Amino acid sequence: MIGRLNHVAIATSDLARSAAIYRDVLGAKVSEPLALPDHGVTTVFVELPNTKIELLEPLGETSPIAGFLRKNPNGGMHHVCYEVDDILAARDTLKVKGATVLGEPRIGAHGKLVIFLHPKDFAGTLVELEQA
Ligand code: CO
Repeated sequence: MIGRLNHVAIATSDLARSAAIYRDVLGAKVSEPLALPDHGVTTVFVELPNTKIELLEPLGETSPIAGFLRKNPNGGMHHVCYEVDDILAARDTLKVKGATVLGEPRIGAHGKLVIFLHPKDFAGTLVELEQA
């Protein structure tokens, strides 16, 4: 069902510092920060040859990553995102197979439909599916 790894998302409380580490220490191509108020995050995209890393910093009082950073004050891996061809079919199949699907598909940070799967079913990792 799942296809390519679209991105790995890393939450950080210091986006500038985290971006600088990827740019200056690891030598990666790093974007300018992009504020996404509808999603409650500011993002920096790190472009790798085979996938992306998304650095996420909370934006606003109700950021979805604020709680994660309270539990993980140094930051850490927040979710992985896999591509699927048909997000509605993927959702239905996953529900039948007993996975806990969080909410309904919605437009994600890349303008494509995404859905999240509860970490308890996936080795403790929050999974995002994105329609390719
Ligand atoms: Co994501």
